[in-house]
Amino acid sequence: MSRTLLVTSALPYANGSIHLGHMVEHIQTDIWVRHQRMRGHTVYLICADDTHGTPVMLAAEAQGITPEQMIEKARIEHMQDFAGFHIAHDLYYSTHTPETREYASEIYNRLKAAGLIAIRPIEQLFDPVRNMFLPDRFIKGECPRCHAKDQYGDSCEVCGASYAPTDMIDPVSVVSGARPVKKTSEHHFFTLGRCEAFLRQWTRSGTIPVEAANKLDEWFEAGLADWDISRDKPYFGFEIPGAPDKFFYVWLDAPIGYIGTFKKLATERGLDFDAFWGNNSTAELYHFIGKDILYFHSLFWPAMLESAGFRTPTQLFVHGFLTVNGQKMSKSRGSFITASNYLKHLDPEYLRYYYAAKLNAGMDDIDLSLDDFVARVNSDLVGKYVNIASRTAGFISKRFEGRLSNELPEAAVSLTERFYAEAESIAALFDAREFGKALREIMILADAANQFVDNIKPWDLSKDNARNNELQQVCTACLEIFRLLTLFLKPVLPILSEKVEAFLDIPALTWNHAHAGASILGHHIKPYQHLITRVDPKKIEALVDSSKETLTQEPTESVVRPETPALPPVEETIGIDDFSRIDLRVARIIAAEAVEEADKLLRLTLDIGVGQRIVFAGIKSAYTPEQLVGRLTVMVANLSPRKMRFGESQGMVLAAGDGTGLYLLSPDSGAVPGLRIK
Ligand code: MSP
Ligand code: ZN
Repeated sequence: MSRTLLVTSALPYANGSIHLGHMVEHIQTDIWVRHQRMRGHTVYLICADDTHGTPVMLAAEAQGITPEQMIEKARIEHMQDFAGFHIAHDLYYSTHTPETREYASEIYNRLKAAGLIAIRPIEQLFDPVRNMFLPDRFIKGECPRCHAKDQYGDSCEVCGASYAPTDMIDPVSVVSGARPVKKTSEHHFFTLGRCEAFLRQWTRSGTIPVEAANKLDEWFEAGLADWDISRDKPYFGFEIPGAPDKFFYVWLDAPIGYIGTFKKLATERGLDFDAFWGNNSTAELYHFIGKDILYFHSLFWPAMLESAGFRTPTQLFVHGFLTVNGQKMSKSRGSFITASNYLKHLDPEYLRYYYAAKLNAGMDDIDLSLDDFVARVNSDLVGKYVNIASRTAGFISKRFEGRLSNELPEAAVSLTERFYAEAESIAALFDAREFGKALREIMILADAANQFVDNIKPWDLSKDNARNNELQQVCTACLEIFRLLTLFLKPVLPILSEKVEAFLDIPALTWNHAHAGASILGHHIKPYQHLITRVDPKKIEALVDSSKETLTQEPTESVVRPETPALPPVEETIGIDDFSRIDLRVARIIAAEAVEEADKLLRLTLDIGVGQRIVFAGIKSAYTPEQLVGRLTVMVANLSPRKMRFGESQGMVLAAGDGTGLYLLSPDSGAVPGLRIK
């Protein structure tokens, strides 16, 4: 039965370049979409730039252009990058459009009418110089827990604490350098908790991976908090209807961009909008997303849609994160590779093939190992796949004027049968997004085909005129097999397959052609032309070199960094096993002295029963050394030592504080140094 599918990839932020991490998602989406189209289904693939928010507003200002100019420039670049990797979008649009504005207002109004919008004041940090409220990422200061300096307003990169920016010590606005003040304003909230029953059911109905649903249960247990969907001016976004100077938070209108973008496509192509988005829609809706944005797509998004009378997604397809050579992408290592830079050095189909070989339906991270990339592409694509044609096609043009035999040789019958027989199971693997497994099956078949060529040695047959017929049949069998391999690989290698279709002089391959009835026996083919070049490792080197950024200047990223999700990651909760890995011990402070060069630090010498430890603690504002000597406290004894300017800190003492006071913890009397805390 023919189906109609609407497919999306997550909308990339307009204030950053497309990089090879994004490409995991877009290549995965595109392969799946091409496969579905080859199955005969009607598929619309849409995407757009996610354009709103403070980072875009400030980045545009820093470049001396309007946000509208900035996002249009970004959109053109992003579209070029995606086209370069052959991503077959029906439309690549933007969230800053009349369509998305209209649906954002409409959904908000419907949520309000359903009583799901609450308005109440909240207190936030405000930049008095720039007259703007500061998002967490635009505030830096000292961590209220470990006192590390220069930390962002939402969490500490040194000790991992999450906190409210108003709890930071000595906060500074990244935008102006001013000291922020606390200010209250009214915010609009979506009362997500009211949708809990629906969400519990929805997330357990096969829409998201079970592992993700299990994680969400922890959220349900903790209770769904109201979601703050408004921001005060100045903000680059859409004004909230009926609320002067209030704007929708970027994450409110970003997913609505899926609807707005489709609306634009529907208008252009005369499609029935309600058949896709109405609550009686007949089309299927799939979102490809990374695991970092699962919560927006599995909680807020379905809750908004359901409450506002739209259909909900059929399924979310969630992938993991890209690492390069086993590590996070990094500018200094040259592994932060932009899509456009990749395209300057290497063929996009290499990367499509490599990612496909690594991708499956799970949420695991995937690694781009550059050595493995070269080896895999050269061995599979050049050595196994194209090799079959390059070793046999020449005989057909030179000896038989391009004409294939009407018959297969006896020796090839079972082999070709095997190819026809396996087509359905390979298609099923593509359908299930098990691309890695599909390619392994395909390469096993390619190995068998090469084995056949090696055994039968067409070059030997060609030396004996009496065996001309046999030579033609053998080469015909090989090219029929090559046709099928091309069909199987077509979702992954769209351009290469087009070249093969032209060379074999056949119509565009679909899964309908994966049987003997569609074979090329007796057919005329065009002369063979070179199809693919081996990956040259020197090009990889050049790519990595040109991706390196000398880190002599402060990265501008902190200013233009995209807004991070408003939800803390679920990984936040820890099990008892994690907790028991922390070696907490009673310690006696046997010496304490002020560190001259640091206004907050005391150097403590601690006795923990089994020896002594030196710890630099940021508690100078609350205690004098004299008050501390002789006291018992609690320390983390197995924290990895940290080199500081004044020496090595070999642990951490525990103190409570909220930015105003600081209170060192101590055990009840009777405890002795070295006791472990359980
Ligand atoms: N703008 C939001 C999405 C809004 S969707 C309504 C966003 N943008 S993003 O540019 O940060 O990421 C876009 C997509 O790319 C996300 O699905 C994200 O998971 C994915 N990736 C970004 N970096 C990635 C890797 N390093 N590896 C794999 N995917 C990554 O989030
Ligand atoms: Zn900290």
